[in-house]
Amino acid sequence: MSVRGRRVVVAGATSESGAMVCAALVDAGAAVVAVGSDAGRLTALAERVPGIATEVCDLADSGAVTALATRLTAIGPVDGLIHLVGGWVGGTGILGQTDEGWAAMERSFRTLRNTTRAFYPALLASDEGRVAFVSSVSVDAPTASGANYTAAKAASESWMRSVADGFRADQGDTPGLRAAATIFAVKALVDERMRAASPEKTFPGFTDVATLASAVVGLWDAPAIDLNDTRILL
Ligand SMILES: NC(=O)c1ccc[n+]([C@@H]2O[C@H](COP(=O)([O-])OP(=O)(O)OC[C@H]3O[C@@H](n4cnc5c(N)ncnc54)[C@H](OP(=O)(O)O)[C@@H]3O)[C@@H](O)[C@H]2O)c1
Repeated sequence: MSVRGRRVVVAGATSESGAMVCAALVDAGAAVVAVGSDAGRLTALAERVPGIATEVCDLADSGAVTALATRLTAIGPVDGLIHLVGGWVGGTGILGQTDEGWAAMERSFRTLRNTTRAFYPALLASDEGRVAFVSSVSVDAPTASGANYTAAKAASESWMRSVADGFRADQGDTPGLRAAATIFAVKALVDERMRAASPEKTFPGFTDVATLASAVVGLWDAPAIDLNDTRILL
């Protein structure tokens, strides 16, 4: 079992975490399709991580995501979907949770719903289909100031657990289960650029994007039964 030779879609790939995940997958021998909404940022990513394919797509648009999935699956299998679209909004207390902030967070949730629905058949068809997204530990202890953000992450976690149930329903439990839906949870992410910009900071409790990237590669090192419907604190 390994990610080598697998074709993996990284949705929302142009952030530092996306670059690290793409690079780790390429290093491990996977074929990567990096998806983002901005052609310029994808070009910069492809220069940074040679060997990846890129696709421009507004992942909040279900029609566009379905078309992307149809096109990609027509030319080969898709064994993995790593969903990294995020964003964060806060506000002062419950009354500071604006409609604009909620719209942004709902949009982020919608991208996860769109991608997992569109690529679900391909993940089922793979002999080792894997899907993962990154949630927040705030779901375990919601605050008033982060209510919009945490509500969307909670909805995303619920959606992923439903996807996991779908895999079970469609493939059965072991030994039939081949696909797995996994939630990663972090407090916050940190990368080399953040460390370089603030050398005095220690970033306590933050998860390095390299740790996330290793966890993504590791999704193909364990059987689906051990990964499906799990929430892994990184
Ligand atoms: N950063 C943290 O401290 C932290 C904490 C807890 C959880 N997380 C989660 O970890 C994951 C990765 O975090 P991150 O900070 O690296 O991600 P991010 O920068 O918030 O988002 C990743 C990428 O998603 C792309 N994107 C946004 N809307 C899109 C759309 N409609 N269609 C296509 N692409 C879109 C953006 O690229 P383009 O603009 O180029 O399209 C962006 O670079 C996210 O799910 C985040 O919520 C992060």
